[in-house]
Amino acid sequence: MSARKIIIDTDPGQDDAVAILLALASPDELDVLGITAVAGNVPLALTSKNARIICELAGKTETKVFEGCDRPMGRKLVTAEHVHGKTGLNGPVLPDPVMPLQDQHGVDFIIETLRAHDARTVTLCPLGPLTNIGAAFEKAPDIIEKVQEIVLMGGAYFEVGNITPAAEFNIYVDPQAADIVFKSGVPIVVMPLDVTHKALVTKPRNDAFRGLNTKVGTAVAEMTDFFERFDKEKYGSDGAPLHDPCVTAYLIQPDLFTGRHINVEIETESELTMGMTVADWWGVTDRAPNALFVGDVDSDGFFSLLTERLSRL
Ligand code: RIB
Ligand code: CA
Repeated sequence: MSARKIIIDTDPGQDDAVAILLALASPDELDVLGITAVAGNVPLALTSKNARIICELAGKTETKVFEGCDRPMGRKLVTAEHVHGKTGLNGPVLPDPVMPLQDQHGVDFIIETLRAHDARTVTLCPLGPLTNIGAAFEKAPDIIEKVQEIVLMGGAYFEVGNITPAAEFNIYVDPQAADIVFKSGVPIVVMPLDVTHKALVTKPRNDAFRGLNTKVGTAVAEMTDFFERFDKEKYGSDGAPLHDPCVTAYLIQPDLFTGRHINVEIETESELTMGMTVADWWGVTDRAPNALFVGDVDSDGFFSLLTERLSRL
């Protein structure tokens, strides 16, 4: 079976970095057509720099990296240095990138790529705020029906908010873009906090990364050592939740995950609940299902897949 064509849209972020490494380590399953950076965890200049740092760490400097939008569609940018550190990749000391940024704007790359490929053959993998995707759908509505699937990290139901009491960060930063995406009609798979909070880098798992004795394994261990502080303090978690790698792992081994096809709508009016993913998990409305909302993961299976793939870089 040929590798699945994907575009990774990302705001690195240590967990984005691990998701990108997992994708680049899996060329038999995933053909990364390009990586589009978006403002989110840290400003765009840093997310586009970090995306290239990760490609170079993986030894995949031929990967095309684009800069997308530097702010949400209709709100002030909110960033998350309190979680990811000032650079967005705090933890390991990694060299500045040498590989170039592509000249084309990330939104135009998404549009051009979808127009150039057969319908339903390109999957979009947003790992940050949905600004680039929402902007592409607004600028070129013709591409919407060409998207094979959107597999995204974002939202929450039982886990409620991590940036406000009601909202998860990626959706909160750009609720308007998220609303466009969830109303688009494109098949969507959602990796919410409900499942990503079960993908925790416990000490044995982090030791397994370090035990690879490779540049990549050590860098990932150092990233998660840094990144875990926020969740340990806030949730008393056993380790850093690997949010974004759930997207890549799903694309490689979907049977690690379980969820429900339900209706998910985005709060875009009330400041109190702005960016909340109103997920009809219990089917109490007659609103049509528009997403596979993932609630569980075989976390041991997830980490053995991840660790084995990282060992290939
Ligand atoms: O809420 C977690 C999400 O927000 C992750 O994608 C993390 O990288 C940040 O973007
Ligand atoms: Ca992210």
